[in-house]
Amino acid sequence: MRKKIVAANWKMNMTQAEAASFVDTLLRELGDANDVEVVIVPPFTAIAKVSEALGALENIKVGAQNMYWEKSGAFTGEISAAMLRELFVRYVVLGHSERRMLLGETDEIVNRKVRAAHEASLHPILCVGETLEQRENGRVEEVLSTQLRGSLAGLGVKEIQETVVAYEPVWAIGTGKTASAEQAQEAHAFIRRTLAEIADEGTSNKIRIQYGGSVKPDNARTLMTQPDIDGALVGGASLDPRSFAQIVQGAAALAEK
Ligand code: 13P
Repeated sequence: MRKKIVAANWKMNMTQAEAASFVDTLLRELGDANDVEVVIVPPFTAIAKVSEALGALENIKVGAQNMYWEKSGAFTGEISAAMLRELFVRYVVLGHSERRMLLGETDEIVNRKVRAAHEASLHPILCVGETLEQRENGRVEEVLSTQLRGSLAGLGVKEIQETVVAYEPVWAIGTGKTASAEQAQEAHAFIRRTLAEIADEGTSNKIRIQYGGSVKPDNARTLMTQPDIDGALVGGASLDPRSFAQIVQGAAALAEK
C-alpha cells in the first residue's frame, strides 16, 4: 500500500511572516493526519522559517522548489543540495513545467539535478506533463515517456523507487481546468507502466505518483480515489492553510478505508 503524499508548492509566494502564520493555522486545522505524508514547499527564503515552525513533526516535511546539481562553486544565484539539507529539506521539486518553459530546463538538466538530489539523500518530486497542443495532437504518451526516460536516465532501482513522480498536465496548471479523474488515471497508469519498463514492475508499484493541476478541496478526493493517483501537488489552493488542510484530510479519509 502506497502512503499518500500531498505537497504544497507555494511557487513565488509567501514571505517568512506569512509562512509562519500558514504553518500555525495548518497545524491547528490538520489535527492528526498521520496516515498521509505532507510536504510544504516554500520559496528558498522561507524554508528555514517553515522548518523551524514545524519543529520535530514527523509527518510534515519540508521541500524545495529547485536546486543546482553541482556541490559548490561559481554558480551565482544557485543553491546546492547540501545547503537544502542543512535546512532540514527532504524533498525537492524538479522539472516543474514553469521552469521547463520559462527557464529552458531540459530533460538532461533535470536528470543532472535528479541524480545530484539522490546523491545527497534528497527525494526528488519529478514533474512531467504534456501541453494542450501535445494532448490535442495525440502525443501524451510520447511526451511522458520521453520526459521520464530522460529525467531518470542512469539511476539505480533504489533511487527510482525513492523518486516521487508528479503528473502535471500543463493545460491544467493555474487554469482552473482540472484533468478529469479518468484522464488523470489514464496518464498515471501509463506512467506506472513506463516506470516498470525503466526499472521493474515491483519497483514501479511502490513509486508514488501525484497529480497536480488545479487541485482544490472539492476535486482532490475524487482524483485521489483513482488506483494510480497517490496524492496531489497543489499550487494555488495550497496558499490557504484551510483549503490545503481540507485536501490533506481528503487523502487521510481515503487512507483510513
Ligand atoms: P495549481 O494548483 O495552481 O494549478 O498549480 C499546480 C502546480 O503547478 C503545482 O506544482
